Amino acid sequence: EDPRIRDIMSRIRVVPDFPKPGIMFQDITTVLLDPKAFKDAINLFVERYKGRNISVVAGIEARGFIFGPPIALAIGAKFVPLRKPGKLPGEVISEDYELEYGKDCLQMHVGAVESKERALVVDDLIATGGTLCAAMNLLERAGAEVVECACLIELPDLKGRERLKGKPLYVLLEAH
Ligand code: PRP
Ligand code: MG
Repeated sequence: EDPRIRDIMSRIRVVPDFPKPGIMFQDITTVLLDPKAFKDAINLFVERYKGRNISVVAGIEARGFIFGPPIALAIGAKFVPLRKPGKLPGEVISEDYELEYGKDCLQMHVGAVESKERALVVDDLIATGGTLCAAMNLLERAGAEVVECACLIELPDLKGRERLKGKPLYVLLEAH
């Protein structure tokens, strides 16, 4: 395993009982406080995705907006924000998804992605996989090909990977 991953892992702060009792919150803001760990995380993704003909990096609001843009710039792709409802001013397509309690929705601008473009979806963490699944659906409805989803952290106990319809998922580390 790449030694940079151990260092990134050591910078993630685990906050018990946030935002509610029983949840062990994986806080990536403490990675951002260490420029080397932040850069290492970006570089690990860039090394994996450069030269793979990816023209779109789609980042999921909010924490996918932190990691997606530097990856997009480094691999020469455009960045497309996938936003929570009511935030994008232009015409949008929407995907609803289930949360543990209730529903949420992601939206993407019509025309941001063209048919046949190769896309990478970026977020900080996969839990149940509902968020990444909705993101992939948006890109596929626009005619893009999702090459892979990429996150820093996977919570494998929640089996979110199984909801990704066989699409590859790359994560830097697992948390239990
Ligand atoms: C968190 C996390 C992922 C999502 C993962 O975001 O940043 O986007 O949950 O959960 P899932 O795999 O079960 O769908 P959250 O919805 O809390 O919003 P935020 O990123 O805007 O804080
Ligand atoms: Mg999120």
